[in-house]
Amino acid sequence: MGGMRVLTTGGAGYIGSHTVLALIEAGHEPVILDNFSNSSPEAIRRVGELAGREIEFIKGDLLDVELVERVFAEGNFDAVIHFAGLKAVGESTAQPLRYYRTNIVSTLNLLDAMDTHGVRTLVFSSSATVYGTSGATRCVEDLPLGTTNPYGATKLHIEQILDDLAASDPTWHIAKLRYFNPVGAHESGRIGEDPRDIPNNLMPYVSQVAVGRREKLSVYGGDYPTADGTGVRDFIHVVDLAAGHVAALEALPRHPGARAWNLGTGEGNSVLEVVRAFERASGKDIPFDIVERRPGDVAELVADPGRARIELNWKAERGLEDVARDGWRWQSNNPFGYAEPGE
Ligand code: NAD
Ligand code: UFG
Repeated sequence: MGGMRVLTTGGAGYIGSHTVLALIEAGHEPVILDNFSNSSPEAIRRVGELAGREIEFIKGDLLDVELVERVFAEGNFDAVIHFAGLKAVGESTAQPLRYYRTNIVSTLNLLDAMDTHGVRTLVFSSSATVYGTSGATRCVEDLPLGTTNPYGATKLHIEQILDDLAASDPTWHIAKLRYFNPVGAHESGRIGEDPRDIPNNLMPYVSQVAVGRREKLSVYGGDYPTADGTGVRDFIHVVDLAAGHVAALEALPRHPGARAWNLGTGEGNSVLEVVRAFERASGKDIPFDIVERRPGDVAELVADPGRARIELNWKAERGLEDVARDGWRWQSNNPFGYAEPGE
């Protein structure tokens, strides 16, 4: 198969930057479209350094219909990977309209331009959050779906839009990739997750405690029905996740329609196991308090990754020790992420 020219929306972000590198390594030609609302051009520069070539990018907002149209008129793309969007669960509850507008209207603008220009191959960033009301701990793709917050609702609505679109025209090939908990960083320590504010998610919080930016971790709940009482999740190394996007892109020609694939390891780890792994990798103590459960959290959510293994020929290769080692390398080499200290 020849290399594909792939518009990568949100390609400067955490998962996007790792995927852009993986695309280049697999012989594809990514072009980034990002408004840098939650990322930095420095990430793109560093991906270029790792790839040994400059990365093509456009600074622009997917809410700008004319810009999106122009990008497609000039782009000559074979496919799109759509990462761009807002992703903070708590913020989505406080600002639902901003979340619905950014995530859904952006996607509609993108789909319109793709359709007009005959680019009908799409990989979409969905989330395990669509299993939020299923009550299942091990998730297969055909569970009944439901969500518990506006962020999750945007993902579920977009999945529905993609299903309807694919049903209307058989020339669409769409992958709905449901990520579990993306963590870790590229093994070079040059690119990684760089949250702007206080991290909402476990792993960036733990690594900021290890590096001395935060005092202690609050563990949300010690009385769940799990082995050690803390929540259990399926933590997937971001480099494995990036490889899953390349696998999906390359498999899509065999899969007309819209199809969901879980991207997870199939293994669950508890919050305390994550803390211990990070202590081993960093050689630091991670102080923590066990506090109340966080509203909306479930005890345990783990992928059944069987469908992706069979149909995409993809599986996660890395485990929690790799996550902690690579996450710590990124955090300790870049204690303030892509920003200079004091910025
Ligand atoms: P991120 O915030 O690092 O990346 C998103 C990128 O999109 C950023 O670079 C941001 O600047 C850009 N962006 C946002 N709005 C835009 C707009 N209107 N126009 C152009 N660019 C815009 O997030 P991430 O962790 O890399 O997540 C990527 C995708 O994966 C998101 O859709 C997210 O919802 C989904 N996802 C993430 C996780 C996770 O835990 N990180 C889990 C499940 C799903
Ligand atoms: N946790 C803590 N302390 C923290 C942060 C998290 O104890 O400071 C715990 C949570 O209670 C949970 C686990 O660590 O048990 C993982 O929490 P994260 O916030 O890292 O991840 P979630 O599983 O809650 O959410 C992730 C993504 C969402 C997505 C969801 C799908 O961040 O975007 O998975 O289930 F919607």
